[in-house]
Amino acid sequence: MAGNIKLIVCRNPDEVAKRCAGLYIEQVRNKPESVLGFATGSTPEKTYVEIAKLAKAEKVSFSKALSFNLDEYWGLDGDHDQSYRYFMNERLFNHIDIRPWNTNVLNGKARFPEIECRAYEEKIVSVGGVDLWVLGIGNNGHIAFNEPGSPVDSRTRLVSLTQSTIDSNSDGRFFKKACEVPRCALSTGIGTIRDARKLVLLATGAKKAEAIAKAIEGPFTTDVPASLLQDHPDCTFILDTDAAGKLKSR
Ligand code: PGA
Repeated sequence: MAGNIKLIVCRNPDEVAKRCAGLYIEQVRNKPESVLGFATGSTPEKTYVEIAKLAKAEKVSFSKALSFNLDEYWGLDGDHDQSYRYFMNERLFNHIDIRPWNTNVLNGKARFPEIECRAYEEKIVSVGGVDLWVLGIGNNGHIAFNEPGSPVDSRTRLVSLTQSTIDSNSDGRFFKKACEVPRCALSTGIGTIRDARKLVLLATGAKKAEAIAKAIEGPFTTDVPASLLQDHPDCTFILDTDAAGKLKSR
């Protein structure tokens, strides 16, 4: 079952990035004070390069926009080069005119994680909710750090990472060894993500094909967190042909 999920299949990762960047530019052009959701990981890296390029070429200003990120490693502060705050500054925020004080990333060093997570949820609500949130997907179907089994109504909280996620993030792209990867993270919940008005999930490469097929064509189940987007009213998956390779319905 595909539910409401809309599908865009692109020829390659570059085209995926251009399609997604185009959505962000259009969103901010139509509503300069948009609340934007961002993700980390290798999949959206090209999208961020494209957003910065397009914003400059088309003179689109992010100066009134606000942003929220999906998650942050627990125990890393924002200056750590593997923290998601650092990633966002380096890959995107330093290259567009978004105001640093309007960018929100969970504080991985917060003294009281419950208070940090509750405040994050309250801040999203207080600014009127997220207009457009981009997501990646883990090989195990996770979205943000909502690992299999995460409840559909889960909220921002301290979570443990699965071995599959630790292994994926220590393959040399980010951390070099599994022992370097934090075991926990602060993550927005599936309920937090489902509250966004528009969701765009990006996936590229054959390693993601199975998770994508299960998310779109499998049952709505907490075993595959991305399948919990099937009943979202405005969710688009932008895939390259490799990530779409195991879909029966294409
Ligand atoms: P990736 O991670 O983009 O680095 O593959 C995606 C995710 O784990 O959500």
